[in-house]
Amino acid sequence: MKKTPLLGELTVPGDKSISHRSIMFGALAKGTTKVENFLQGADCLSTIGCFRAMGISVENHTDQNLVLIHGKGLHGLTEPESVLNCGNSGTTTRLISGILAAQPFSCELTGDASIRKRPMGRIITPLTAMGADISSINGDGCAPLRIRGRRLTGIRYQSPVASAQVKSSILLAGLYANGTTTVTEPYLSRNHTERMLEGFGAKITCDGASATLMPPEELFARELTVPGDISSAAYFITAAALIPGSELFLKNVGINPTRDGILRVYRAMGADISFLNERTVSGEPVADLLIHGSRLHGTAVGGPVIPTLIDELPIIAVAACFAEGETVISDAAELKVKESNRIAVMTEGLSAMGADVTETGDGMIIRGGRPLKAAVIDSRLDHRIAMSFTIAGLLCGEMPDIRGGDCVKISYPGFYEDLQKIVS
Ligand code: S3P
Repeated sequence: MKKTPLLGELTVPGDKSISHRSIMFGALAKGTTKVENFLQGADCLSTIGCFRAMGISVENHTDQNLVLIHGKGLHGLTEPESVLNCGNSGTTTRLISGILAAQPFSCELTGDASIRKRPMGRIITPLTAMGADISSINGDGCAPLRIRGRRLTGIRYQSPVASAQVKSSILLAGLYANGTTTVTEPYLSRNHTERMLEGFGAKITCDGASATLMPPEELFARELTVPGDISSAAYFITAAALIPGSELFLKNVGINPTRDGILRVYRAMGADISFLNERTVSGEPVADLLIHGSRLHGTAVGGPVIPTLIDELPIIAVAACFAEGETVISDAAELKVKESNRIAVMTEGLSAMGADVTETGDGMIIRGGRPLKAAVIDSRLDHRIAMSFTIAGLLCGEMPDIRGGDCVKISYPGFYEDLQKIVS
């Protein structure tokens, strides 16, 4: 395999976080919500499955990425007949838990082997403080969870982690609570819940890293178009930025400032990325991106930027291997509790390919510039690991043998096909 410039244009699929929320909020709104450019990833399909199981009719026109959700209002969900299956999706598990905490029924929710290892104490604690009856069935702080609906009371919660899943879970419970609910984070995480709920008619005020919700009487259906997912675009941005002679035009990419940290970091590393046609789509900032290949140098990635690029750290680690000098990633301990332990798995895989990477307690230190070669990589069925190592292969000109690479379907079912379109 030869390392060739990336040329041409591509439209990445819809944003995963926004697609999930469009189903959830659409289900809780009165009337039919129409969603265009919906992501047909397995995670978002898990969310659809859960709401169908609670009596919501969701029409998914997969050929057009168009979804119609026939919402029944805040009090329209019905008790599911069996355990809700959240698959691999942390967003589904944590956000739905906030909604379930206030329903007039009980249910259980679970997911795959990865989801059953991820920490749920971070939502159990604040939801319990609101009056919820939610417990980890095996007593290990993970799914399966049992939730018995209760009357909830609004809280002011100081979250120990910058996590949009935690924040959103609490705000969704707050839709049903007596009184207002405020969540404050150490640093602001992605704010799609705040932006979107406002579009569905809720009253939310945001102040720095705090969001306050006044419980609404009802939410109302709307039409929305999901922007392209910057987390999916990240793989092609990285390859194009690092391969000399590349010129890649990525259309319709969401550039919400709570998500665009990768662009700020790459520009600081010397990347040539420009925004064209900046606009607002369904309350979210969007642009077309033009990327030219150049030489990158190492940098420090830590502090408030971390939540704005949390899902991109595996691919940023790949980029750092091909940049000149040292890159230090810190304040990123959250990576250990994603679909896999992404600090350990990236360190192991990049080292196997010949990179100079040291794992630290909250990140990695990467000394770039060593030649990489193919190796056997176990994706741990983590979609972002599989895509990151595919790009590592493209950048070194030797494709690693990635085990379980099919897991890209979680967030980007057409990833390998799209990549083929731009490698000349
Ligand atoms: C997400 C939030 C992030 C991110 C995940 C999607 C969301 O998780 O990693 O892929 O849609 O709210 P945390 O909130 O746990 O950091």
